[in-house]
Formats: sequence, structure tokens, C-alpha cells
Amino acid sequence: MFITRRAEFSASHICRNQALSDEQNFSLYGPAANAKGHGHNFVLEVTLAGNPDPVTGMVYDLKDLKDIMNEEVVDPMDHRHLNFEVPPFDKIIPTTENIAIEIWRRLEPRFANGPGKLKSVKLFETDDLSVEYRGGE
Ligand code: NI
Repeated sequence: MFITRRAEFSASHICRNQALSDEQNFSLYGPAANAKGHGHNFVLEVTLAGNPDPVTGMVYDLKDLKDIMNEEVVDPMDHRHLNFEVPPFDKIIPTTENIAIEIWRRLEPRFANGPGKLKSVKLFETDDLSVEYRGGE
């Protein structure tokens, strides 16, 4: 069984590869390459896999899940400029793809011992655009 919890955070980013020219950056990333950055209201969906506990009937304590998402993602990223304030995005381009991978990296150890295992990190940059990471691919 899968359970999914949603959280939102607002953050700014610049999608720009310093090894490339301005022209190449704007060609690749469009206005997102602008050095000032721009913001998104990111929506995060974290999915755990497990079986309902026979006593509680729950796969995972939902309050604990919310606290972990806040500690690892929302508190450190909300209202931040990712490139300047949230490592490793001083070195890694904070595309939505890379943000999702970093969120997985932060969350995965918190669920290593069960009862729910991290199954998926889905990150919406807009209503029309999301990425999903399941570790590995
Ligand atoms: Ni953007």
C-alpha cells in the first residue's frame, strides 16, 4: 500500500550552467537562466510504501511524516534562494529534477528502518510540470 503526503514551499532558483555562455544558457533554460533568479511555489508529494500496522491501522504515523518533511525540506528550503542558501545547489544546478533528487537524498535515510519505506518523491514546479524520482532512475 502507498500513502502520499503533500507539502508546499516557495523558493527561488537560477537554472544556469556557469561553464556555458549566456547564449547557450538562455537557449537551454530560457528565462530561467536569468542571473537574478525567479520563484516557484513548489508542491512536494512524498509517497511511502508499507502495510498498515495491525494495531494502529496506519502505514506510517502521518504527523511524524509531516514533521520529517518539514525538517528535511520545507524548513531548510522555504523562502530561500536555492542557489545561494541551500547546498548543494551552490554547485549543482537546481532544476526541478535535481531538487527532487536532493529531497530524496535527504528523506531516504529517515525511512530506512521502516515501517514505511520511501517510494517516490514527486515535485511540481507548476500545475503543468512535475518530476518524480524513485531512487535510481
Ligand atoms: Ni524555474
